Amino acid sequence: MLVGVSGGIAAYKACELVRLLVKAGHEVVPLVTPAAEGFVRAATFDALARRSPTQEPYPHLARADLLVVAPCTANTLAKLAHGLADNLVSEAALAHEGPTLVAPAMNPRMWAHPATRANVERLRSRGVELVGPGEGDTAEGEQGVGRMAEPEEILERCTALLRPNNGSLHGKRVLVTAGGTREPLDAVRYVGNRSSGRMGVALAAEARRRGAEVTLLGANLAVPPPPGVEHVDTPTTADLEREALARADADLVLMAAAVADYAPAHASLEKRPKDGEPWRVELRPTRDVLRELSQRRTNGQVLVGFAADTGRRGLERAREKLHAKGVSLIVFNDVGRGDIGFDAAENEVTIVGRDGERRVAKAPKERVAAEIVDEAERLLEGHGRASAH
Ligand SMILES: Cc1cc2nc3c(=O)[nH]c(=O)nc-3n(C[C@H](O)[C@H](O)[C@H](O)COP(=O)(O)O)c2cc1C
Repeated sequence: MLVGVSGGIAAYKACELVRLLVKAGHEVVPLVTPAAEGFVRAATFDALARRSPTQEPYPHLARADLLVVAPCTANTLAKLAHGLADNLVSEAALAHEGPTLVAPAMNPRMWAHPATRANVERLRSRGVELVGPGEGDTAEGEQGVGRMAEPEEILERCTALLRPNNGSLHGKRVLVTAGGTREPLDAVRYVGNRSSGRMGVALAAEARRRGAEVTLLGANLAVPPPPGVEHVDTPTTADLEREALARADADLVLMAAAVADYAPAHASLEKRPKDGEPWRVELRPTRDVLRELSQRRTNGQVLVGFAADTGRRGLERAREKLHAKGVSLIVFNDVGRGDIGFDAAENEVTIVGRDGERRVAKAPKERVAAEIVDEAERLLEGHGRASAH
């Protein structure tokens, strides 16, 4: 495994990461940028990795099962996104063919900058995995998102990336829906919603990471589906319903898509010409895919619904939905807020179950996805035990 260290304060935490990786039995090749050398000398990493400093003269020739960059500075992130190869880390990254995990660490304003946001999207779209950054106090005393994930968490992600076949969901079939359906009005217009599909894509990636066989039904995704996942395009509610019902026997169903509740009663196959007249559209309720799935639920299946609603009443409606629709969990997220929910990189959710609720604080959707899958897995294990007796 290649461990790239770039020049941020969190370089000291990379020492602990290398130590943990070696302890877990991994062969680690540390690669240190010149800027990182200003924080922790390469010799420290070599010693922790139990390697001689002369062992890796040509990083682009190194073959590895995984590349981890921790900490990943804004600068190195930009280099990875654009394919620069001007130091040991960026050069190795450009030649690396396996999975890549990046642990960004930077000032919150650097993390929030549109340039960094675009670089992150670019990397994600190529299947690069990110862990963190988290929220909290930075070394310079600022508050916000930018702290590198803890070494233990990075180790966990490395382990999962290297062993998808031994993951906790190995042998399970997981169905995930993501995005927002569009209901045609005519040949070019539609009634839709702002869902980008990020939450569902993060859930699919998480389930895959844990070794599941994942099918992602994507409705107008703004982000690419994760690698290793079967992707079926389902732009309308009817498409999504058909494909979901065809896979209704999955072990775990995560219904993260924003499926239209109402669709135009009549859709024209041609474009309605502009004639200056008002256009009255009748919307009719669509079939409730979640309820349909719940009615077909097989023994032991865990069915997770999502409630995209607003405010306190929204949470109450989510609690009602759990019972009314007969699902295992409802994940409530407040789509009335601009900083989370629809088309945002972060989310803050309440996971409503039959025996309690868990609030997941605002975090990148990947982290929220992991918490949701944790809860779903707990229920899957519970069913397993119940059926064993
Ligand atoms: C004391 C100090 C701390 C820094 N911490 C960070 C950091 O946490 N994240 C970051 O992106 N850049 C940080 N920088 C800036 C980087 O070191 C700088 O952008 C450098 O060019 C990164 O090079 P590299 O990505 O090749 O390692 C810091 C600079 C200094 C002087």
